[in-house]
Amino acid sequence: MKIAFFDTKPYDKPSFDKYGEEYGVSFKYFEAKLNEDTVELANGYDGVCAFVNDTVNDKVIDKLSDMGVKILALRCAGFNNVDMKYAYGKIHVLRVPAYSPYAVAEHTIALLLTSIRRIHKAYIRSRDFNFSLSGLTGFDLHGKTIGVIGTGRIGRVFIDICRGFGMRVLAYDKFPLSEIDNGDTVRYVDLDELFAKSDIISLHCPLTEDTYHIIDAAALEKCKRSVVILNTSRGALVDAEALLEAIKSRKVGAACLDVYEEESDLFFEDNSGHILQDDTLARLISMPNVIVTSHQAFLTEEALENIAQTTVKNIVQFYETEQCPNELCYRCSGPKDCKDSKCF
Ligand code: NAI
Repeated sequence: MKIAFFDTKPYDKPSFDKYGEEYGVSFKYFEAKLNEDTVELANGYDGVCAFVNDTVNDKVIDKLSDMGVKILALRCAGFNNVDMKYAYGKIHVLRVPAYSPYAVAEHTIALLLTSIRRIHKAYIRSRDFNFSLSGLTGFDLHGKTIGVIGTGRIGRVFIDICRGFGMRVLAYDKFPLSEIDNGDTVRYVDLDELFAKSDIISLHCPLTEDTYHIIDAAALEKCKRSVVILNTSRGALVDAEALLEAIKSRKVGAACLDVYEEESDLFFEDNSGHILQDDTLARLISMPNVIVTSHQAFLTEEALENIAQTTVKNIVQFYETEQCPNELCYRCSGPKDCKDSKCF
């Protein structure tokens, strides 16, 4: 099987080469992102392997289908960059539903601690032999209330970590799991209560029509003064302009963003020699209480291994049996509880 691999980075190759060789799948690595301009590169391949910032819209799907490419193997969990409804009947979409919830949850807590204990400031100071503590006062996490939106794989690991710090958790999920709510330190509440009572809010839900800009000006208005916003899920969960205004007015005390709505042309690339055209991102990055990482939360050795192994197994399983448990079903916007494994 020959797979065209888009948006390749050096850290992708070792694990994909290893599992590709083991399972008899050969990858042709392209640095280009998959989009309307680059889709021709997939001509002659059995499938394509894409990542979070590749664009799989109607035109790309039509072209892949015309070229006889049967599968789109996403090497990620999220699939908001794929027009799932349009893909129905044209191409099979496989994904990696979970590869390391710990990687993302731990990165989220790393961002939070860095921010509220001012580690990013202290690191730069001490490298310049500036050992002053002025302006570095933080606050304890112990006893604080954290709002967690999305209690799936990552949200649940994140909640466990927060409980370890002695925090109270207010959770919100469209599909709550009764075993998570202990009626005391972890409680499901509605969004309004979560916004009103949380000192920190962390997003762990997918990007859907329901969750688009779930943190917007109206939501921020309902929050406590100095609330800390954490987003390691998808950029468009947060209205970045509204966040910027709330930071300027000091309604938001700090923000940690691993994702950004307009990240696709910027993140994962070295833009250090370029003039950044996105004024909102530039202004956010310039703030002393904002930390931005470039969609890095997934990037651990364990996650890369799991991503490669599951992606390769998905491809092999689909070609051998025409079925794969990690095939996405457009009808239920994902595999959640989809009883119809043969959607096509
Ligand atoms: P999951 O599918 O296990 O959990 C998502 C949870 O969100 C589910 O419990 C679901 O019921 C809930 N949900 C769905 N719609 C909702 C709504 N309207 N309001 C509130 N909750 C809703 O997914 P997992 O593995 O926990 O991942 C969560 C998100 O993390 C992914 O969707 C992805 O966007 C992001 N992610 C980010 C990575 C990074 O490197 N920054 C890496 C991997 C995932």
